[in-house]
Amino acid sequence: IMSAINDAKRAAAHKAVNEYVKNGFKVGVGSGSTIVYAIDRLAERVHKEKLNIVCIPTSFQSRQLLIKNQLTVGELEIYPQLDVCIDGADEVDSNLNLIKGGGACLLEEKIVASCAKIFVIIADYTKNSEKLGDKYKKGIPIEVVPMAYKPVKQVIENRFGGDLELRMAIAKAGPVVTDNGNFILDWRNFKQDVDWDIINKDILQIPGVVESGLFIGMAQKVYFGLEDGTV
Ligand code: A5P
Repeated sequence: IMSAINDAKRAAAHKAVNEYVKNGFKVGVGSGSTIVYAIDRLAERVHKEKLNIVCIPTSFQSRQLLIKNQLTVGELEIYPQLDVCIDGADEVDSNLNLIKGGGACLLEEKIVASCAKIFVIIADYTKNSEKLGDKYKKGIPIEVVPMAYKPVKQVIENRFGGDLELRMAIAKAGPVVTDNGNFILDWRNFKQDVDWDIINKDILQIPGVVESGLFIGMAQKVYFGLEDGTV
């Protein structure tokens, strides 16, 4: 199963890079395990086709991968407008709304995606769902300023229900700290038949919330790698 999933990630990633990256483009590059295949393909195309591409990373991980693959790294201060942004997702619903942030990089991912003319998602078939929460069980990540994690948790639980849990680190005693020095609350057992656009806007108004892993109305295109090898 793992190898089928990895093949699906690779197939989706290659298709997106083949179809959406052109010479001269400024490209936002997401984070996670699927993006690794996109960066592989990007490096292959840049070096073989001698493309002139600038890549804007969305995390420490994605920056490191770009550097390792000898791709040109840029930043939004120099390139505030991107031609395309390619990223993975934890779940995609039937309206192309997304849950992202399984890798805790949601803030930079959302900023970089918001600067791109086209936002393209690459994912394997396990991410394809009808309603948010059908497939992805790890919850909706919400990035918070450390001192606000408890009040934000309580406000969201009281207002919308479900449970929010502070994400704990694995190789460290204590919470996950994001690339921006913040904490992550993972929201589980939420109601599924809701207007995510309204809930997302409400959550973003709570003091201490930095960003949510709900990407509503942002993705224009989603490539799913399927079990049979097609995309
Ligand atoms: C990182 O914070 C996430 O938003 C990733 O983009 C998302 O978790 C997808 O990761 P995979 O490609 O590893 O599933």
